[in-house]
Amino acid sequence: MKKQSDPILQMKHITKTFGSVTANRDVDLSVYPGEIHALLGENGAGKSTLMNILTGIYRPDGGEIWYKGERRDIHSPKDAVALGIGMVHQHFRLIPTLTVAENVYLYSGRKSFFLHRDEMEKEIGECSARYNLQVPPEAYVWQLSVGEQQRVEIIKLLHQGAEVLILDEPSAVLTPQESQSMFDTLRKMADSGKSVIVISHKMNEVMKNADRITVLKNGRVEDTLPAAEATVERLTRAIVGERTLPQQDAAHKDDDQDRISKEPVFIMEGVSAKNDRGLPALKKISLSIRAGEIFGIAGVAGNGQRELSEVIAGLRPVTEGSILLAGTELSGASMKKHIQEGIAFIPEDRLQTGLVPGLSFTENVILKDYQSDRYSRHGILQKQKMREEAGTYADKFGIRHGGLDLAVGLMSGGNQQKLLFAREVSGSPRLIVAAYPVRGLDIGAAESIRQILREQSRKGVAIVFISEELEEIFAMCDRVGVLCDGELMGIRSIGQTDFQEIGRMMSGEREETT
Ligand SMILES: Nc1ncnc2c1ncn2[C@@H]1O[C@H](COP(=O)(O)OP(=O)(O)OP(=O)(O)O)[C@@H](O)[C@H]1O
Ligand SMILES: [Mg+2]
Repeated sequence: MKKQSDPILQMKHITKTFGSVTANRDVDLSVYPGEIHALLGENGAGKSTLMNILTGIYRPDGGEIWYKGERRDIHSPKDAVALGIGMVHQHFRLIPTLTVAENVYLYSGRKSFFLHRDEMEKEIGECSARYNLQVPPEAYVWQLSVGEQQRVEIIKLLHQGAEVLILDEPSAVLTPQESQSMFDTLRKMADSGKSVIVISHKMNEVMKNADRITVLKNGRVEDTLPAAEATVERLTRAIVGERTLPQQDAAHKDDDQDRISKEPVFIMEGVSAKNDRGLPALKKISLSIRAGEIFGIAGVAGNGQRELSEVIAGLRPVTEGSILLAGTELSGASMKKHIQEGIAFIPEDRLQTGLVPGLSFTENVILKDYQSDRYSRHGILQKQKMREEAGTYADKFGIRHGGLDLAVGLMSGGNQQKLLFAREVSGSPRLIVAAYPVRGLDIGAAESIRQILREQSRKGVAIVFISEELEEIFAMCDRVGVLCDGELMGIRSIGQTDFQEIGRMMSGEREETT
């Protein structure tokens, strides 16, 4: 890091309000060439907003942006790109039916992108090699894993000539190995003189990989410090303040006898299903879960987790096998039937499957049962009742929103997740499928979500808990099943296994099922 040099970028006194919400308040941020600068802060602290201002998506209400020593007005993303500022968003913006090369060139401003296929692919190959961003230029984007798609987004920025690269929670969608390789790439870019701004909720990866850290709290800068001086205690205090976090729930494991029923409530027998491309994604999965049990699904992302969660939720048809919930056969049944029988679903992509971004908080709350007589009388929706219920949710789950009538697409990522949980849990489910439920959540919010799940399990709800983080699976679950390439490699009681064994199963070693 070259702190002696002048900053390439300075944001001064930036303020931005949305109605009654102040997303950024008098924020100062300086970024130097050659540094990786991390932005931390609770859900809703204003991180994405600040970066959206820098990239011209929002206009600030007040404050200045200085770039390479000159004051600049950034009116649009195009302005930002022209200056050399580019961003990889939380939700990728690639076109699935085009190839990697086509996606990269589409944004390059060159008109004839389809004329120079060889040249295009060669150039991308060089970029990949230089920054260790392996991705096949001729592949279609829909064929790529999430990690590869992210690499394409980064290549796109480099190709546009970005000197300041912003990544909004890039590691939230990656496996631990992929994350490290991504940070290695970012380090290479910084070493070549570029500046990198990374938004993250993971304190450890930030302390390990960043040069400097800025913490936002309630829209203000709470702390800016060199990563070398950061400790978990200091960062936690900056992020959440003096408020104490929900305590880890140690009693959970000891009450096993009372909590878990003898008989299984959910049984899958020889279930197979295909993925979106029509290829086998689940291969003869058999498992059973008891009421009150938290059953973990471990595995490297992309090995059938998504399909498994969708099959259980009734969103994806099975090609063979049977699924029983409390004695009722569900394979072949509609999604509505799954909901009626008591299956709640927290999907991986909350904005595509879970919530409707254009609808309001209130509307999203009642989305699942607007037809029931809870909210409608003679076919007329009871607006007041709906709003009351939504207000209760917000209080009970500590959801911060800019108003019950505001579109949820405008709420911060973590608060969207809490809303989804509130809605799913409130229907008194028998089984909850939660896919990566704390992804993208700040530490406080993540612990609240874990507590909600534990509380549900104590009420006798069976829970399928999908995660890539083994620490989390070991802390939360009673048993764990390991998926690899669509197959269940084995099932273990948490007390009778360890990371090494589960790790081996994740990489495809089959072991005797206990
Ligand atoms: N376009 C918008 N209209 C109204 N309110 C908004 C808009 N964009 C953001 N907000 C609000 O501004 C605040 C800051 O949101 P922002 O998305 O910047 O948070 P964040 O720090 O990125 O959180 P997360 O970690 O959950 O992604 C939130 O209260 C959010 O609801
Ligand atoms: Mg955000």
